[in-house]
Amino acid sequence: CGIVGYIGRRDVAPLLLEGLQRLEYRGYDSAGIAIHGDGTGRNGGLRTARATGRVRELEARLPKRFTGTAGIAHTRWATHGAPCDENAHPHQDADGKIALVHNGIIDNAAELRARLESEGVVFTSETDTETLAHLIARSRAETLEEKVREALRLVEGTYGIAVLHADFPDRIVVARNGSPVVLGLGEHEMFVASDVAALVSHTRQVITLDDGEMATIKADDYRTYTTEGSRTAAAPETVDWVAESYDMAGHDTYMHKEITEQADAVDRVLRGRIDDRFATVRLGGLNLDAREARSVRRVKILGCGSAYHAGLIGAQLIEELARIPADAEPASEFRYRNAVVDPDTLYIAVSQSGETYDTLAAVQELKRKGARVLGVVNVVGSAIARETDGGVYVHAGPEICVVSTKCFTNTAVAFALLALHLGRIRDLSVADGKRIIDGLRRLPAQIAEIVAQEAEIEKIAGEYADARSMMFVGRVRGYPVALEASLKLKEISYIHAEAYPASELKHGPLALIEPAVPTVAVLPDDELLDKNRATLEEVKARHGRILAVAHQEQERADHTVVVPRNETELDPILMGIPLQLLAYHTALALGRDIDKPRNLAKSVTVE
Ligand code: G6P
Repeated sequence: CGIVGYIGRRDVAPLLLEGLQRLEYRGYDSAGIAIHGDGTGRNGGLRTARATGRVRELEARLPKRFTGTAGIAHTRWATHGAPCDENAHPHQDADGKIALVHNGIIDNAAELRARLESEGVVFTSETDTETLAHLIARSRAETLEEKVREALRLVEGTYGIAVLHADFPDRIVVARNGSPVVLGLGEHEMFVASDVAALVSHTRQVITLDDGEMATIKADDYRTYTTEGSRTAAAPETVDWVAESYDMAGHDTYMHKEITEQADAVDRVLRGRIDDRFATVRLGGLNLDAREARSVRRVKILGCGSAYHAGLIGAQLIEELARIPADAEPASEFRYRNAVVDPDTLYIAVSQSGETYDTLAAVQELKRKGARVLGVVNVVGSAIARETDGGVYVHAGPEICVVSTKCFTNTAVAFALLALHLGRIRDLSVADGKRIIDGLRRLPAQIAEIVAQEAEIEKIAGEYADARSMMFVGRVRGYPVALEASLKLKEISYIHAEAYPASELKHGPLALIEPAVPTVAVLPDDELLDKNRATLEEVKARHGRILAVAHQEQERADHTVVVPRNETELDPILMGIPLQLLAYHTALALGRDIDKPRNLAKSVTVE
């Protein structure tokens, strides 16, 4: 979900709508806005508008003369309660004095609600958020800050909130616990948002609140303090992602922009890190000295969705280049299964946003049990980046399309850097170090070559868009590529897809193969190529259609996308890219909403 707020001198509604548009990738089930009236008496008090659906529906529904200079707004990804007008934020108390927007989940909402209802409070929505509005309204404290603080004391769960109160028109009070809140500092105006994306077109001076921190923003002033009330000294930082990188730059979708800019993105993750003299890389933020690195006996990588898949590529790279046993697991599983936390294991959390709650919870659990946890994260200063002991920034730049493309690729490259670094202080030879470095340097140009095949891939996508389901297969290095390609296709085209290790096909899924269920095979030219070709034979013998991604034309395939060859260890990074384009053009052919697929959100900051 996305939060944005403003207090200053400009007309607030257009500013908030623009902020919401920029946050829409965070959730787009419904949206809403609350403002302080313009003080003329005619428009005094709080005014709100809410709408199911996209921000443009909200815009169409704004009442006449919806003007003022302070307000908050929200775009929602439903958790408690279906997407509908009543469940859209802002939520209010019975007198309409308070308006509140909230990201996160109040765990004890049911209990609080029962108690409030037994005391006569009438709820108008099914949300957990509404309880907070009523709790604030019931506080007898004098200041808005104290009212919010009293309410928060009763609440268990996670939140990022922004609160308006009719009696305190000069301020917005915000609080954070587990869900991001960022202040944006302007000239005679202040912003608040759940994500810098909503701020960068206005200011690059930001303050990211910590968990347990609150803030009051006024047009000319701000204050940060803990939920207990003691002042905190949060220093403003300058964000280095410029506003332009949030624009579509002439593309029809963010996904297309992000796929096509991958050569530049990979260039960025490599920049300044290669050390030719010692055939290794410098990773300034790793915070793991050579002695510690040598004592690592195992690596465990944790992430969700595409980040988990990039982690699988990472585990393979670490095993191959550093010869450390490594594996990846969905963070969402790991955190629930009371895993054995081993002191000789290096844990690595992977996340584009750095906010995914399941991944963050896994990090927190590991830290509580004394583990060393590194992060491979895109968003600088995000919760996971801050909670980990060190790590590697992915430097993909802002990724706006809900499904990940450039960040997935950059994360895989970041893992190659980490694997090379670990390998070179263990037993990887200088010659192999040089070979990998040369390979890394070739990646951007080779990515550009693949992207240049877009027209051809588009044509192929047209032939498979009628599929009822699709099977993606690969062996060892190719398998994570197959998993990610299958996820990408289902996320944006809604065609059912499954990924299997190629050798598992014969143990069951082969039963599904028929012309309406084509197979996409990832066939790098490695020691397993012959085995992979045998899999193609099995599929052909069952009259299955085959699309191969390979280093040379495949005889048994109906179509082959030929990708340039890099080093065997790095080939998987390139082989995922044509399959991003395949998913993209399949979804386009089916008329899907590519940047905002149904039911999903970019960052899932709840359990
Ligand atoms: C959501 C998104 C996925 C993403 C996953 C992990 O489910 O829809 O596309 O891969 O979160 O996000 P993260 O920000 O942790 O990489």
